Amino acid sequence: MFGIALAIVFCIFCSVQAHFPDDPKPCKYGDGECIMQFVNTLFSERFSEEDPGLNLMQLDPLKVDKMVISQGEGESPVSITLTFTDNLLYGIKDQRIVKVKGFGKDLTTKHELKIVSKTFSLVGPYNIQGKVLILPISGTGISNMTMANVKIIVSFSGNPLEKDGETYLDVTNLKFSMKPESTHYQFSNLFNGDKALGDNMNVFLNENAEEIYKETASAIDRSFSQMYLGLVKGVFAKVPYAKLFAEE
Ligand SMILES: *[C@@H]1O[C@H](CO)[C@@H](O)[C@H](O)[C@H]1NC(C)=O
Repeated sequence: MFGIALAIVFCIFCSVQAHFPDDPKPCKYGDGECIMQFVNTLFSERFSEEDPGLNLMQLDPLKVDKMVISQGEGESPVSITLTFTDNLLYGIKDQRIVKVKGFGKDLTTKHELKIVSKTFSLVGPYNIQGKVLILPISGTGISNMTMANVKIIVSFSGNPLEKDGETYLDVTNLKFSMKPESTHYQFSNLFNGDKALGDNMNVFLNENAEEIYKETASAIDRSFSQMYLGLVKGVFAKVPYAKLFAEE
């Protein structure tokens, strides 16, 4: 579940980037409706079976090399270190942008994307240590964390960056927040493979999924916005801002 934003932004922007250098430019500065339609269309075309030439299928599932969710400040009832390594994130192809703000001629204004996704599943090896609502938890195995009806907001502002006579948007102040309607956890091999304990813990986690998500949300958002920042920065560093949009 934690690889979602990364995937979204990566996919959207790699599509856009691959497409933008061609004239005519698809959208005017600040035309959020056009930008949304354009990116969504591009996105669904590139993931459709009818277009095997374009290589986006390999992005769903997306490889997530490593993600660490470390949470446990203050009085929080959830205090865990959860590490995912070599996971796969499924569901990227079904996400859509629902609102775009910013991207006007003045690149220093706030830019914002609202994105929705039907489901996201992060599947692969995990390691967890800590405490969840007073119960100790530990284990190493395979996990599947699935989120349904996820709403994501990504915002950032831009600094003008001059390079070889062109102006680029340098991404700053990136903020990321993600809200799933529901979350489902499945951890195999908890407690060194003690099946009774492990089964009970999985039931317990799912009965308390909403509470657990709430407690870990800011840690999740934090680890995400870092990855995100690198990716979004990379995209805007490649294409001069004036090449992205058409004049009024
Ligand atoms: C992960 O769990 C979800 C929901 O329980 C399920 O639909 C999905 O098939 C699982 N994914 C994998 C790869 O096992």
